Amino acid sequence: MTELSAVREQAAALDATDEIAFTRERFVPMGSAETAVQAYLDGNSLGRPLLATRERINALIDGAWGTRLIRSWDEGWMDLPLTLGDRLGEVVLGVAPGQTFVGDSTTVVLYKLLRAAVAADYGRRRIVLDTENFPTDRYVAEGVAAETGCELVWLEPPADEGLVPEDIEKVVGEDTAVVLLSHVAYKSAWIADLAEITRVAHACGALVLADLCHSAGVVREDLDELGVDLAVGCSYKFLNGGPGAPAFGYVAARHQGSLQQPIQGWMGHADPFVMGPGYRPGDGMRRFISGTPPILGMVGIADTVDLIEEAGLDRIREKSIALTRFVIDAVDEHLAAQGVRVVSPREDDRRGSHVTIAHPRSREICAELWRQDVIPDFREPDGIRLGLAPLSTSFGEVTTALETIARLVRTS
Ligand SMILES: Cc1ncc(COP(=O)(O)O)c(C=O)c1O
Repeated sequence: MTELSAVREQAAALDATDEIAFTRERFVPMGSAETAVQAYLDGNSLGRPLLATRERINALIDGAWGTRLIRSWDEGWMDLPLTLGDRLGEVVLGVAPGQTFVGDSTTVVLYKLLRAAVAADYGRRRIVLDTENFPTDRYVAEGVAAETGCELVWLEPPADEGLVPEDIEKVVGEDTAVVLLSHVAYKSAWIADLAEITRVAHACGALVLADLCHSAGVVREDLDELGVDLAVGCSYKFLNGGPGAPAFGYVAARHQGSLQQPIQGWMGHADPFVMGPGYRPGDGMRRFISGTPPILGMVGIADTVDLIEEAGLDRIREKSIALTRFVIDAVDEHLAAQGVRVVSPREDDRRGSHVTIAHPRSREICAELWRQDVIPDFREPDGIRLGLAPLSTSFGEVTTALETIARLVRTS
C-alpha cells in the first residue's frame, strides 16, 4: 500500500531504536519462508515460545522426569508452585515473597479466591463486578453467588473504555464483600485505576480481587504497594508459559491466615504425606494449593520471567505504549476513511498492550487475515483485537498487519 509507505518507514526507524529489540531473537521462529506467520498479533492470547523454553522442556524430559523420575518431587517439584510463585511475584507483580503461588487454571484460582473472599465475612453479601469483565470472571461470580446466596452488583462501563473509581464508589458499602475487576480489560484494553479503586473499596471494608491476565508482564502491578488484597492471572499470554500453562494467585500476607479456600486438597495440607484423617491447612500460601502441581506446564514460565527482568518492566511498558500508539495513529490516518474505528482508550496511560479496532465486516476480515498468515483475534460483535507483545512484536510486523487490513477493508 503506497499510502502506508510512510508508516513502513516510521516502523523501520522505531525498530532500529527499540531498546529491547534483542528480546525478539529469543523466540522460536514462526515457521519458515512461505509458510511463516507474517504478523502475530495474538501474544495477548497465546504467547510465543522462547528458545530457552524448548531447551528447558527437553532437559526436563531427559533429566528431572526421564532419569530422576519420582525423586524429582523431593528435588524441587513439590515446592515449585511457591518458588516459581515467588519469582513471578517479585519480577512481574512487584510483591514480597510468600504471597504468590502457581497452579490450576485462572478460572479455578478465581473461584478459590472469590469464594474465600465471600466466606471471610458472611455479613457482607454483595460482590461488585462489571459486564465488560472476561466471561469466566462473570460466570464464576454467578456460581459463587448461587452457592452462597450473595447478590451480584453489576456495573456497566462503556465497551470502549472501562471501570472508573467513581462508578465503584457509588455502589460499594458496608454490605460489599469484594470488588472483582480486571486490571486491563480484555476487549478495550482499559487500565483500571487499581490504586484508587482499592482505596475506595477499602474505605468501606471490602476486599479487591484483581484479574491480571491482560496486564501481567506488560503493565506494572506493584500489588503490595497498591494494597490489592487478592489477584489471579494466567501465564500463557504475555508470560509465554504455553497453551494451558497454569495460573498464578496472589493473596496478601495479611489475609492468608484468615481466608479459607474451598478446594481443600491434599497438596494444601500442612503435611501432605501424613495422609491423615482430616484437613489441616498448610502455612502461608501452601494452603491455597489444591492438587498435584502441573510441572510440565510450569517450566516455561520462568524463562519469560527471566527475560522480563532482563528487559525491565519499564522498558517493556514503554515499548507497549509505543506499539499501541503506532497502531492507533496509523488507523486514524489510513483506515478511518474505510470505516475502521479504534475502540480502545486513546490516553496512553489508560491503555494496556492491545488495541481493538472495529469494522462492520470484522469477522470476515479476521478470517481472511488468518488465511494470509496475519494473526489477530476476532472479538464479538465487530472487533479485531491487535495484541502487541512488546518482547516479541516488531513495528515492522505490525505494519504488515496494517497493510493487509487496509487491503482487505478496501476490497470488501
Ligand atoms: C481476563 C481473563 N480472565 C480469565 C481468563 C480465563 O482463564 P483460563 O481459561 O486459563 O481459566 C482469561 C482467558 O483468556 C482472560 O483473558
